[in-house]
Amino acid sequence: MLTLVFSVGAIIAISFAHWIYNWRNPKCDGQLPPGSMGWPLLGETLQFFAPNTTHDIPPFVKKRMEKYGPIFRTSIVGRPVIMSADSDLNYFIFQQEGQLFQSWYPDTFTEIFGRQNVGSLHGFMYKYLKNMVLNLFGPESLKKMLPEVEEAANRNLQRWSCQENVEIKESTARMIFDLTAKKLISYDSEKSPENLRENFVAFIQGLISFPLDVPGTAYHKCLQGRKKAMKMLKNLLQERCENPRKQQTDFFDYVLQELKREDTILTEAIALDLMFVLLFASFETTSLAITLAIKFLTDHPLVLKQLKEEHEAIIRRRQNPESGVTWQEYKSMTFTFQFINETVRLANIVPGIFRKTLRDIKFKGYTIPAGWAVMVCPPAVHLNPSRYTDPLEFNPWRWEGVELHGATRNFMAFGGGMRLCVGTDFTKVQMAVFLHSLVTKYKWKLTRGGQTLRTPGLQFPEGLHIHVTEKNEGNAAAE
Ligand code: HEM
Ligand SMILES: *[C@@H]1O[C@H](CO)[C@@H](O)[C@H](O)[C@H]1NC(C)=O
Ligand SMILES: *[C@@H]1O[C@H](CO)[C@@H](O)[C@H](O)[C@H]1NC(C)=O
Repeated sequence: MLTLVFSVGAIIAISFAHWIYNWRNPKCDGQLPPGSMGWPLLGETLQFFAPNTTHDIPPFVKKRMEKYGPIFRTSIVGRPVIMSADSDLNYFIFQQEGQLFQSWYPDTFTEIFGRQNVGSLHGFMYKYLKNMVLNLFGPESLKKMLPEVEEAANRNLQRWSCQENVEIKESTARMIFDLTAKKLISYDSEKSPENLRENFVAFIQGLISFPLDVPGTAYHKCLQGRKKAMKMLKNLLQERCENPRKQQTDFFDYVLQELKREDTILTEAIALDLMFVLLFASFETTSLAITLAIKFLTDHPLVLKQLKEEHEAIIRRRQNPESGVTWQEYKSMTFTFQFINETVRLANIVPGIFRKTLRDIKFKGYTIPAGWAVMVCPPAVHLNPSRYTDPLEFNPWRWEGVELHGATRNFMAFGGGMRLCVGTDFTKVQMAVFLHSLVTKYKWKLTRGGQTLRTPGLQFPEGLHIHVTEKNEGNAAAE
């Protein structure tokens, strides 16, 4: 009897040791990149998400780069992952989209975003949806949108200047959400009985949380938020279906027309998922970028001075100073674009871009096995001292004349290759036009907050509170 207990015990112990051994030493037909797989199942997930206040390369990545080099292996959210801080590998990954690599995001993300969102669609379907989106946010549409963006900026700034205190992260998120929702689905937050954005806020708060779906948890609220938002979107689409409009002006019109076609592969479910992703992708990212931009301007008076000069010169060149920003003026905002580049370089709003390998891949002597996840780490590129001197320094002037030496390999705030962010131009228009109104008509003082935290995504735990006042016309020149 005793021997039986011993041998069963021994077998269990040996299989367990064997399992741990396999966990630590994954099978690979070649040389795996160095690194540690952490604890069984948990991997290095906790270390990866550990909050830190540094603007530098996330400590998780930095420590491992020092130990193993720019390409290393780890395990997060239950998956073996190769992390890349190597600009050649990053470039290769972006170029080989759809051939050797495919978009992949952790399962909790897929669960939350719906299965058919843009991020996880492939091939034909994906190109087709992308064209629909580009139609709405491409240069031609943006040209027409310019006055609307400016009007929204002016209206909001005017309102803020009547308040004692504005929290910028929340206020810009509201401004951008309202604008995007109006463009996409003609949703007017002031006329609607239900608050669509509220559901998105609940959704975002639980986005990066432990995936336990029981009442009370952040994850549960997140799923509920999505459910309610999806229901509202569905009702809005239904309404439009019953009252079609003559002129096609928004995404719903576009979707309805497409759904009527016989050869279409679009379904209502896909259209609604896409709508959700677009609304989400647009307001959270851009409001973070604007909030950080205001913080940088507050801390760097010389930058603010030059930005003001650029925008005041634009107004001086106009026949009528009250006329709105034209496309030509927008295109001429050279320093503003340098400022925006520098802001998103340091913001690192997207700390990781995920892909999955479709085949075994050989690169620089290493083999990345098929089916593994790969994470491109933009901060490691944006904060690399051999690409950007004094990388932690906020210095918009470093972008002067940068077009000359093709910087795309060293700049991936909006991703790269085929999946480059479709909202890039929209973001730039919104930021530039908002800054134009802000620096020409208003001044502000920081009142509270402004501290940043990375988990590893950028956050403002206490927000950024400012006091905005309208510039007194008579003093404008002296400001
Ligand atoms: C500061 C603002 C923004 C940043 C930093 C940003 C960043 C990114 C990045 C890095 C990607 C690539 C993801 C990947 O390769 O897996 C991406 C994709 C995407 N972005 Fe943005 N984005 C911003 C604003 C926006 C806006 C305003 C919209 C919507 C109008 C938008 C819509 C999308 C969509 C739909 C995709 C998926 C495209 C695809 O998979 O092909 N983004 N974004
Ligand atoms: C940030 O990470 C560094 C390096 O791992 C660590 O020494 C420091 O304590 C962390 N800081 C915070 C605020 O968590
Ligand atoms: C901003 O960065 C992009 C990507 O590297 C580059 O093409 C563009 O020229 C930069 N803009 C400015 C004004 O430096």
